[in-house]
Amino acid sequence: MLDFTTLAVVGCQWGDEGKGKITDYLAAQADVVVRYQGGPNAGHTVNIGNETYKLHHLPCGILYQEKTCILGNGMVLDPSVLVKELDNLKERGITPERLYISDRAHLILPYHLRQDALEEKKRGGSKIGTTLRGIGPAYQDKIGRRGIRAGELKEPLRVKERIREILAEKNELFQRYYDDPGIKMQEIEETYLPLADRLLPYITDTSLLLDAYLHQGAKILFEGAQGAMLDLEYGTYPYVTSSSTLAGSIFCGTGIPPGKVKAVLGVAKAYSTRVGAGPFPTEIEGPKAGQIRERGREFGTTTGRPRRIGWLDGVALRQACRLNGLEHLALTLFDVLSGMGDLKIATAYRLADGSVIEHFPAALHILEQSTPVYQEYAGWSEDISGARSINDLPAAALAYLQGVEAVTGARVSLISVGPRRDQTFVRP
Ligand code: IMP
Repeated sequence: MLDFTTLAVVGCQWGDEGKGKITDYLAAQADVVVRYQGGPNAGHTVNIGNETYKLHHLPCGILYQEKTCILGNGMVLDPSVLVKELDNLKERGITPERLYISDRAHLILPYHLRQDALEEKKRGGSKIGTTLRGIGPAYQDKIGRRGIRAGELKEPLRVKERIREILAEKNELFQRYYDDPGIKMQEIEETYLPLADRLLPYITDTSLLLDAYLHQGAKILFEGAQGAMLDLEYGTYPYVTSSSTLAGSIFCGTGIPPGKVKAVLGVAKAYSTRVGAGPFPTEIEGPKAGQIRERGREFGTTTGRPRRIGWLDGVALRQACRLNGLEHLALTLFDVLSGMGDLKIATAYRLADGSVIEHFPAALHILEQSTPVYQEYAGWSEDISGARSINDLPAAALAYLQGVEAVTGARVSLISVGPRRDQTFVRP
């Protein structure tokens, strides 16, 4: 698994599984690190020494100067966030010498941010709880065939004209339907486009580049964002993000053919969290949830929102393994469970009529009426943040880990017991 040619790292829960940390760990061996979906809704935190880096668009490989980093065509990019991200890294001595942005990646424009906020407000009590980064509206425009792609920035007059046309439509929608004054073209010209132009040196046909890397036998790491339960197709729809977060989306999102991703590693934290609204069957509240939130620093990287906390949901995890074809898992934040008392893993759901299902249902009303069936595990009190091999774990922690394997059928091959790079170890 760790000696890879091409490897994808995907989230198995509701995002925030610690993919950033695991990708950073694996990126040490990669030549190229690629993102293929999502945009600045993602927030990958990486701790190196005393420094904490929060990345939104950029793959974790950017923290190693010599790696090639690619933002694939499946992403949606907000130049005002991306330029800030690049400037921030530059101030800390990291220059993106080998960064490439797909000319087919779609741009998030100021009207997408406004639309995201207006749509959420209109939803009233049934808000999705989006990150308000304009993700949904940008993907809507992509699918609706009125998106602006990064490559279009190369023709300034033409792109301005296109934006002007789309803005007229958007403003009509904002004013008539949402009673909002809309956005001025002048604002876009003066503040947005100069920032977008700063991305020009990085924009290219990244699928050609990736094809060349594949032919050279380069080691390529694909870095997923969000998680399987936020997937547009198989997540808790409509409380999902607007892209497909599964490994299957790598091919459309980068332009490499199926079969070229040789292995997929799923990342799951040792319990569950969710930000934003939507069903969360194993959610817990009260002091234990508060303790886990504090210990695990469970506050959104992008929005700072406190994350909802739950027991490990084996049903959701099993689905993530099936849909991504996972044979291996990286289990993160394992140290957070020390001293939490007895623990639970959901193995099935009991429906309102008493029947038991072992898969994640498509219909949310069925999910909402169901209660998890739990397998209980004895807790452990030992601090495991210093563990550097499986032999350093107490017997109760090992039993819990075996519980994760039993419920998913996947092997836990990588274990993380703290935020630092040296707090990750491989299980041979
Ligand atoms: P959007 O992606 O901003 O449209 O938000 C849709 C849903 O996905 C909301 O529940 C967000 O909280 C959630 N979401 C989006 N990105 C992330 C992420 O990186 N981590 C966790 N949740 C996310």
